[in-house]
Parts: sequence; structure tokens; C-alpha cells
Amino acid sequence: MEIRDPGDFELGVATSSWQIEGDIAGRGRCTWDDFSETPGRVIDGATGAVACDHVNRLEEDLDLLAWLGVDAYRFSISWPRVMPGGTGSLSSSGLEFYDRLVDGLLARGITPVATLYHWDLPSELEAEGGWVNRETAHRFAEYSEAMARHFAGRIGRWATLNEPWCTAFLGYCSGYFAPGRTEPGASLEAAYNLILGHGLAVERMRAAGATDIGIVLNLIPIVAETPSMEAAAAHADGLQNRIFLDLLAGRGVSNEVRASCASITDWSFVHDSDNVTLGTPIDWLGVNYYTVMRVAEPKSTEAASIGQDTAHIPACPPMSFAPRGELTQMGWEIYPEGIVDALRIAERGLPGVPLWICENGVAVDDVADDAGVHDPIRTKYLADHINAVLDARRAGMDVRGYFAWSLMDNLEWSSGWTMQFGIVRVDPATCERTPKDSAHWYRSQLLGRKT
Ligand code: FCB
Repeated sequence: MEIRDPGDFELGVATSSWQIEGDIAGRGRCTWDDFSETPGRVIDGATGAVACDHVNRLEEDLDLLAWLGVDAYRFSISWPRVMPGGTGSLSSSGLEFYDRLVDGLLARGITPVATLYHWDLPSELEAEGGWVNRETAHRFAEYSEAMARHFAGRIGRWATLNEPWCTAFLGYCSGYFAPGRTEPGASLEAAYNLILGHGLAVERMRAAGATDIGIVLNLIPIVAETPSMEAAAAHADGLQNRIFLDLLAGRGVSNEVRASCASITDWSFVHDSDNVTLGTPIDWLGVNYYTVMRVAEPKSTEAASIGQDTAHIPACPPMSFAPRGELTQMGWEIYPEGIVDALRIAERGLPGVPLWICENGVAVDDVADDAGVHDPIRTKYLADHINAVLDARRAGMDVRGYFAWSLMDNLEWSSGWTMQFGIVRVDPATCERTPKDSAHWYRSQLLGRKT
């Protein structure tokens, strides 16, 4: 299996702070600490106290990245580690950790790509209403500006938010993610305030000297299985994809989306005067892609897994999801063509902006024996998706790079340690790292390209 002719296409791996860092004592608390420490919220009771112990194993992980031969590493900065409480003064030990990370990457010739918010909201800000409170957008912009100032010239590419859809709709509508609230109307307000925070942050970061600033969305191709399901699919698409792209393009909230959620909100939190800030031009757009969403007739019995459940869709009409073929552990359909469909959604919604795949990967059963950790499905998944993206690039699409999710097995949010996406295995008990077959494969492709 080969990555076909990547040329100067950037290839990397991604992680996020709460999922790998641990060292809970060295930072302020976040909503995922509160959520995961509440019994029943995370399936196996895992918390972020140790995670992958990345903070204490930084040098080892930097060497792992260098061994892999990646061009770039996408990580996230923990807001409560660098600015405990979410506002006010910065933590010197928190900054020192990311200094060592960023400088260590640069010393190894790896481009640092930093995400400012991958869901670990300081708990103190959630106590004030979290993302449903417009003030949180301003706090986020202040924090982002402080990071831009501190890392100017060293962090080459920035993402403001990771997947605001998840924060808004899993966090505030289905309650499946932190902070675990189930308020469909408020979740729309959270989505709006997240993009407002992004826009305010971009403005302030630029003024502070940061360049190459984007945002990462989880865009999902949504397909109606039958003509009768087209309206339901359009509703899901409006909230999954269009609302975010419309806000980022400065178009505000469309009349279709407004009408489809009129039963749960009057949209009074939307102000046309915000459109310039919301639509502040970005330098690049990141797309995270895992699967396609096929919308079918509602089923009589509610499926339990998140992939099947529609509770995260505000004002959701009767519908269900109908994944095809062999499913991943997450219950997600494997559909490599969909990665290009997701990029097309981005291209159409926000024309002329360079694209990156910022996450793509799969949770499967790995088989460990004396010879190593075997994950042939993952290797094929990565190869098929990267090659689909490269084909689209050769056909003229402006897509510049790809990050596999994830460098290492980690805390998969509400699924805890039960779902593993890493190309490097992490033993949950000892945190020992073992590159899987997929990591050896990725390395061979990366190194082969450089010779
Ligand atoms: C994405 C998240 C990432 C990881 C993958 C599997 O939605 O951004 O942190 O959990 O899913």
C-alpha cells in the first residue's frame, strides 16, 4: 500500500491537550475534568488526571514524532494550563511546557500547528454560562491574543477552534460531551458564540503578529437515502455544515436554518452587526473527516450509539442514520470518497481558502503479539483516504496537507480508553508507547518520499 506521489503535500499527525497531557495538578480545571469525574459520563470512568502522561514524556514523544518523519504536528494548547481560570494572568509553568514542545518540534524540523481550543473550557467560564454566554467569546479572544504574542514567529500555523459543532451540539444539545447540558435552543447560541469567539480571536491575533490563522470544522457529507428524507437531510446539513460556513463567510444565519429551528429559538442572539467579525477572512480552513451520514426513515427502536442517535441535532425531525458495509468500532461507515465530498462542501461554502485535512483516522481492534501491534484496517483506511485527497489535489483542488488522527491512542472523550485511534499504541496502565504496524507504514511512506 502506497501514498501515491504526494509531492510537497504536507503529512502529519494530530493530538489534543485533554486527550493526552495528564498532569491535572499543573493546570486549572476544565469542563472535561468535571464531566469525566461525574459517574456515568465517560463509559469506563477514565479521567484526564494522567491520560497519556504526555507532559512528563514530552521528550520521548518529540523523539517519536522525529522517528516517524512527519512534516508537521498538530496539537492543542490547553487554555486552563496557560491561563488558569480562563482569564487574567498567564501561568509561567504552563507556557514553559508549550515552549519546550514548540522549540522541540522546531529543533527537529517539524512544523508546529497549534489549535487554541480543542474543547477544554476552563471550568470557571462554564460556571458563568460557558459558550451560551457571549462574554466567553471575548475571553477566548483575549487568551488567543496572549498566545499569539507569546509564540509569535515560532508557531507557523494556528487554528482557533476544533470542531465547534461538537462543543455546541454534543456539549449543549445531546449532553453527550462536556459540559453535558441538554438545551437545544441554547446549543444554537453556543454555536454562534463559538464562531464569534473565533472571529474576535483572529482579529486580535493578527494585530499581535500571528499569521496563517484558520479554523477546523468537522464537515460531513449528508445523503438522503430516499426522496422522502430530503427535508430531514437538509435540516441536518444546515446544522452540521452550513451554519458554520455561512457564519465564517459573513453571510449570517440562513433563512432556511432559522426556519428549521424556529420551534426552539427566536434567534435573538444573532446580530447582523456581528457579520464582519464572524466573517473575518481566514488564511486556511481545516476539515476533519471520519464518515458519511446517510439519513433514513426513523427506526422504531432507538439505537444506543452516538453514530445512530439523533439527540445532538437541535429540532431534529424524525429520522435515523443508516451506515453501510463494515462499520468501525465507533459504528461509523468507512467511506474514503466522502473525504473529497467533505472538502467540496468546504470549497463551496468558503471559496478560495486553502484547505487542510486536520483529522482523519479510525478506531479498530488492534491485535498485539510478540511481533508487534497489527492494525491492517487502519493502514488501509489511512492510505485510501490520503490517496483520495491526493487525487482531488491533482484534479485542481487547493488542499495542502493531511493529519492522521492520532499520533497515539488516547482518551476518546466519552468513550474513554475503549476506542483507540492511535498509530502508536499506549498502554492505559503504564502509558508505554509501541508503534503499531500503521505507524511503521506511515513512517516508510514519509521517509521514502524524502529520499
Ligand atoms: C474528533 C475529535 C478528536 C477525536 C476524533 C476521533 O471529533 O476532534 O479529538 O476524538 O474525533
